[in-house]
Amino acid sequence: MQKLLADLRAVTGPSHVLAEPDVVAGYATDWTRRYAGIASCVVSPGSTSEVADVIRACAAHGVPVIPQGGNTGLVGGSVPAAGPAGTAPVILSTRRLTGLEPVDAASGQVTAGAGVTIADLHRHAAAAGFRYGVDLASRDSATVGGTIATNAGGIHTIRYGPTRSQLAGITGVLADGSVISNLSGLTAGSTGYDLAQLLTGSEGTLAVITQARLRLRAPEPAAAVLLAGTAGIAQAAELLARIRAAVHGLLAAEYVDAAGLALVREAAGLPAPLRTAYQGYLLAELTGPAGDADIYLQRLAPAALPPDTAIAQDAGGMAALWAYRERLTEAIAATGIPHKIDVAVPAGELGAFCAELGDVVREAGPGRGGPARLIVFGHIGVGNLHVNVLGPDPADTEVDAAVARLAAAHGGSAAAEHGVGRAKTGWLGWTRSAAEISAMRSIKSALDPVGLLNPGVLLPPP
Ligand code: FAD
Ligand code: MLT
Ligand code: ZN
Repeated sequence: MQKLLADLRAVTGPSHVLAEPDVVAGYATDWTRRYAGIASCVVSPGSTSEVADVIRACAAHGVPVIPQGGNTGLVGGSVPAAGPAGTAPVILSTRRLTGLEPVDAASGQVTAGAGVTIADLHRHAAAAGFRYGVDLASRDSATVGGTIATNAGGIHTIRYGPTRSQLAGITGVLADGSVISNLSGLTAGSTGYDLAQLLTGSEGTLAVITQARLRLRAPEPAAAVLLAGTAGIAQAAELLARIRAAVHGLLAAEYVDAAGLALVREAAGLPAPLRTAYQGYLLAELTGPAGDADIYLQRLAPAALPPDTAIAQDAGGMAALWAYRERLTEAIAATGIPHKIDVAVPAGELGAFCAELGDVVREAGPGRGGPARLIVFGHIGVGNLHVNVLGPDPADTEVDAAVARLAAAHGGSAAAEHGVGRAKTGWLGWTRSAAEISAMRSIKSALDPVGLLNPGVLLPPP
């Protein structure tokens, strides 16, 4: 251990290797507090070549490496495993990789360090007259590298696609310390396997991402936000289908159920958003000049929208409506350690999935920490639901598995924008075929034969 620390300090300088147990424990615990493990130390290299030297040093000592960005991941992928299997891993934090090159207006791209936060990337793009296509409530901490590694989605996926769609190049360090880098941003170039896409969604198991070349978009200011009450998720999906058909610039389409709305109102002290209480709420954000929003709203009303739909067209009003959605994750976390099951469900199955959900949660929950409280919300525009169950013991994974299995049974995915992490490796086979898992294993063992990078994440044990 002392030799490992000395070797790492020789690479980064002593102040960038943290070994005090209390400090290391903070990094080894995830945002939800559900996943916590043991790490030897936290090392923060300041450049791609230092990352390569850190990886070589860890390989020489036979110590696994856990890449970590903002540590906002929700599936346990950014922290080590609980058991002290062999020498405790090293957490490699990207927090010093914060270089941001000037925006290249000619290509509409920018090169960013892996440790740049999404909020800083947004500010940088906006200062140059552009926007970055991925946005999420964890923007102040979530990083470029972490969002690529998880292929993060977020509130604008319906318009710009997930992180995968923003990527034009990458630099990453493989498990043998070699550096793969293509930041030219030549989207027209086609010269074999796309390694940037291979690393997207690889959750730290194939390489440590140190930089990325990212596509930017023209800014599309929000022109209106509407919050409509519905009789449930199936009706919200129907309403969304009508909005989709009428609105060219649909920037966000989110769902919150009645239990979620009640909780966020209670936690944040928010007033009732509508005159009537509903089973579900659809929040949609429309872009375009203010006049466009008026045209869209005229096209939709009065036939499509419930009469007490809240519509905001000024910044303060729009933010007030977003608060019912954006503040929900923190409101849930304030109640304890939730079971967060992030799934994807085909649009046509959302109603059937949610209709069965209550029974499935009840059957998986009894006797495991009291009655469960169920909250469903998420990115309905892309069929991405966040099922949150409050009540069962955090160590109990039965309810999580039951919900994920239900999503798979409806033709959905047991894991969605949050990724697989440590939480869902056992369920990969519900969504991916044996041949696909075998191909993924082959890629992993070709690039990381000894399993140095994030062991236990993404792939199920052989
Ligand atoms: P971390 O949590 O540090 O790591 C996540 C995974 O990526 C781990 O497997 C880690 O090993 C790997 N990793 C991190 N950096 C690197 C790197 N440089 N190279 C290789 N691997 C790396 N997610 C969404 O998709 N959409 C949302 O709308 C959303 N909203 C959220 C709201 C809140 C309040 C919170 C707390 C989380 C939310 N998340 C959301 C989850 C989380 O923010 C995302 O998964 C995000 O992509 C994680 O980024 P991070 O930098 O924090 O990565
Ligand atoms: C969100 O969309 O708010 C996030 O993915 C976080 C969550 O699932 O709680
Ligand atoms: Zn989400």
